[in-house]
Amino acid sequence: MANNRENWGSKLGVILAVAGSAVGLGNFLRFPVQAATNGGGAFIIPYLIAFVFLGIPLAWIEWTLGRYAGYHNYGTSPSTYHIIFQKKKKWAKYLGSLGLLPPIFIIFYYGFIQSWILAFAFYSATGTLMDVVAQGPAKMTEFFGNYIMLKTCVGGIPVAIIFFIITFAANMVVLSFGVRKGIERANKICMPILLILGLVLVVRVLTLPGIGKGLAFMWNPDFSELASPKVWMAAAGQVFFTMSLGMAIIFCYASYLKPKEDLVLSSLTASATNGFAEVIIGGTVVIPMAVLIAGANIEECAKLGTFGLGFQTMPYVFGTLPFGGVLQTVWFTMLFFAGITSAISIIQPLISFCEDDLKFTRKKSVTTISTITFIGSLTAIFGLAAGTVDELDFWGGTYLIVFVGMIQAILFSFVLGRRKAKDAKANGDLPAEVVVEPGENEAFATMNDGSLLKLPKFLRPIIMYVCPIYLIVLLVSFTATDGLPFITLSNVSPNDTVQLLGHTFSKIGFTWAFRGFLFVLFLLLNLAIAYAWRKGGPAEKGRSKKIKKVEIGNSDENMDKEA
Ligand code: PHE
Repeated sequence: MANNRENWGSKLGVILAVAGSAVGLGNFLRFPVQAATNGGGAFIIPYLIAFVFLGIPLAWIEWTLGRYAGYHNYGTSPSTYHIIFQKKKKWAKYLGSLGLLPPIFIIFYYGFIQSWILAFAFYSATGTLMDVVAQGPAKMTEFFGNYIMLKTCVGGIPVAIIFFIITFAANMVVLSFGVRKGIERANKICMPILLILGLVLVVRVLTLPGIGKGLAFMWNPDFSELASPKVWMAAAGQVFFTMSLGMAIIFCYASYLKPKEDLVLSSLTASATNGFAEVIIGGTVVIPMAVLIAGANIEECAKLGTFGLGFQTMPYVFGTLPFGGVLQTVWFTMLFFAGITSAISIIQPLISFCEDDLKFTRKKSVTTISTITFIGSLTAIFGLAAGTVDELDFWGGTYLIVFVGMIQAILFSFVLGRRKAKDAKANGDLPAEVVVEPGENEAFATMNDGSLLKLPKFLRPIIMYVCPIYLIVLLVSFTATDGLPFITLSNVSPNDTVQLLGHTFSKIGFTWAFRGFLFVLFLLLNLAIAYAWRKGGPAEKGRSKKIKKVEIGNSDENMDKEA
């Protein structure tokens, strides 16, 4: 039955899976670009502050909410919010729908970008990329442009589509094996390889003559920039993205924790692994090398954007070194492993929604989600030049994740944090097995359940107050500075046009139409939620025996009545 939820096989398994999700293109492409465009060394201090006061606490919060969901055999936000509000609030499940939007929007473009990496790994390994590099940077730009714009074809079919289908199938095959045999195993294979390949590149870069100049750009703190709010916002946004926060992922992964499995230390270990991959591997390889070889042009290179740096500058820079083809292959292979572990992590919450809430079998869940993501990905594949990826990334990968993170922080601190764990055990909100200290609240009782290391008490105010306030300030300032101009399209002229499938549209009209499409998806998701509840889905079946024991006489009927 789909109702028998799985668990991770081992502590290492879940840590690697969360780290695998976190270590992605954000570490190796987005972080260097953010650092370079925000003054290099100036970026690191706000970044570290956001890591400590925002990233680590919010990761603990998400793990805790996920475990709370798992206690009740759920793994996504609609049912969890419903349960957090003790199944009394009709709107809670619909509020939870927001938590599922980031994975939907992000996977629509992430799979396509992931497939570019596979293609470029192939082109590196076969020497094609070295031939292109030999013809100069302009040729490299053209090669990349033709590839992503579907102009490079074999037998009339764009190569980019072929690689997309291979990548898409690979993701889905892993997921079809489930959490333990699919996700956990894939991470156990991919993560060590990724870290080794990354370290190979770090060693290569650090042994380049004159690399000190490049490292200085990245690592000399420039305190004068600290007064700029933009740098602080960019740093916090990067922490969010790279740690996979607000994306429903950690939430979902933590819901598969075994009872009594450690949480506090596991979360910290996964966060530290991601930080290492980002700052040490991402921070050492890309920018210092590009500064050394591309010289003063680094800010220009960074303006090529996240993809320009990764897909044009890096192959070029590696190509100028001895064994350039090998280095290029190592680079893209590392990125591919980073990409697949992130991609599967963002699809699993959607599969969990089908399995747990809609009570689909795994096969039906994987088929449903494959169909939806495949169709959705077409918007990114064909609409890239028309700006669809920018829209998806703004809503899914930037704005909503912070918003959802804020909701989660508030639920943790002001809902679970206000309720006594003792009462929660008595009414079945917490399983009877949870060991509770006198006076403890539900939030920290859940977090510390089975922990090897209990969260030190002095950190509680950071989680309870600093983190939500940080998030609210971040959200408000981001909305004012970058959000509103983007949302209102105030920088777009009415005469701007975009091309889609050979037709020309006004940019403003097209963008609003695309937003309308995204909004329809949001409505459909809410219909699916309403349907799940109508069927008596969540909270109806599939309790583990342990939970059943504490839930006798409680609530399942409430749910039916309420829905
Ligand atoms: N943390 C991921 C990264 O750095 C973000 C992400 C996760 C993106 C999952 C997509 C899917 O790339």
